[in-house]
Amino acid sequence: MARMADSKLVAAAPRPGRVAGSFRDPSGQVFHFQDRILRTMDSAAAIEFASAERVMRQLVDEGRLVDFSDAEPSLHQLFQGSIARVLQHPLLEQITYPYEWSFAGLKAAALFHLQLQLDLLDQGFCLSDATAYNVQFEGSRPTFIDHLSIKPYRDGQLWYGHKQFCEQFLVPLLLRSVFDITHHSWYRGNLEGVPSADFVKLLSTRHWFSHKLFMHIILPAKLQSSRTSQTKVDLGDSRARRLPKDAFRAMLAQLYSWISGLKVDVGKQSVWQGYAANNTYTATQRSDKGQYVAEFVAQHKPRTIIDLGCNTGDFSYVALENGAEKAIGFDFDPHALDAAFDRSVQTSKNFLPLYLDARNPSPSQGWGERERQGFSSRFSADAVLALAFEHHLAIAHNVPLAEVVAWVTQVAPKGIIEFVPKEDETVRRMLAGREDIFSDYNEEAFASALSQKARVVNKHLIPGSKRTLYTFERSE
Ligand SMILES: C[S@@+](CC[C@H](N)C(=O)[O-])C[C@H]1O[C@@H](n2cnc3c(N)ncnc32)[C@H](O)[C@@H]1O
Repeated sequence: MARMADSKLVAAAPRPGRVAGSFRDPSGQVFHFQDRILRTMDSAAAIEFASAERVMRQLVDEGRLVDFSDAEPSLHQLFQGSIARVLQHPLLEQITYPYEWSFAGLKAAALFHLQLQLDLLDQGFCLSDATAYNVQFEGSRPTFIDHLSIKPYRDGQLWYGHKQFCEQFLVPLLLRSVFDITHHSWYRGNLEGVPSADFVKLLSTRHWFSHKLFMHIILPAKLQSSRTSQTKVDLGDSRARRLPKDAFRAMLAQLYSWISGLKVDVGKQSVWQGYAANNTYTATQRSDKGQYVAEFVAQHKPRTIIDLGCNTGDFSYVALENGAEKAIGFDFDPHALDAAFDRSVQTSKNFLPLYLDARNPSPSQGWGERERQGFSSRFSADAVLALAFEHHLAIAHNVPLAEVVAWVTQVAPKGIIEFVPKEDETVRRMLAGREDIFSDYNEEAFASALSQKARVVNKHLIPGSKRTLYTFERSE
């Protein structure tokens, strides 16, 4: 009976769409189908998968690998060609990319990857590559999503993912830790990470004396450049080389301890780093604002919430403590994001702070301009908070106020936007020393723009200030 129902479901269903980023491995591909992910395998991949299945199940139980089960046999009909096995996985609520992770997040992902490699190696397996896109976050907890990159380990095999690991994890982290350059735009501009060869150009001769930098970055970059300039490549060469298991393990352990110790220069304060403790509100005004957010969450019960300009996450936490299950915070301040990520690690709440410069959100890009999806097609939530945020776009970045309001109301169907008027000290500071070209920046224009896109269901003047919190519900 169940089987017949499945067949009908399959006959009526639209064909699964291949996940745009899943084209690199012809032996196994990933598809969206209804509310799940399907993963196909050819016979060679299925044999390898079966050999690692027990280890994978253990990783699932430990929360380190996304769950899997065999798809109903009827679903095999959806695919053409020689498919030996089809798995199904739960759909992750959102996919994020390394160029959206904080330094702290990227570091957590790097350590997660290395620990996974070490543990797999102990059981006779390894990862076939080291792409950072195979790590995803649930809150601040990393999890692995690419089952087919778990392969049997052959004694003495080289670590083929070494260069990829360095360029997708290590170099972006060093960029910040050595030079205080954030990785986001370099990574987003080159989806495969930050090329070691480019990083080497930034180093001075004293860096050449660092054994770790030399072994993992400088030497491989130099060898790569001499290999690409050779007219004839000796293909037998790499086949003859061996990396003994102990040496492989030592390499992984060395990277683990190096990355664990990487820090950012906290002496270099960012504008927004100390904002939560040092801002233009009084403590009473801040707690009044928190109370308003708490009441909104208690009344509207959003399961997921997006917090634009989250800073270190204070209001995401108010939402989480008042019934929201999950908060995704966005900010462009690297120090605030690191503090927010550390806070999430220290609490058991589902809070993921991500890098977003709202003036230039992640675009759809990569192969076919679809390989990596843009901000608006990937992130959705039941509610949005845009607190003390709109003036950063409308005044500091000259975005027409109505467009700021329209953008925020597209992020979620309901939420709270705080309007900060010109008389406010922060806006006065923003306008100091520049011409005030914002004749239509006022609360009336804000309210009118909001009413074009949404219904205002409540508003609240923060006592002792001229800032107003507007609760809206989008008109569909
Ligand atoms: C005034 S603080 C507000 C923090 C918090 N929402 C609150 O109400 O207390 C503004 C925050 O917005 C962030 N921000 C400003 N411009 C931004 C932009 N273009 N993209 C993302 N975040 C931005 C700042 O880094 C800062 O953390």
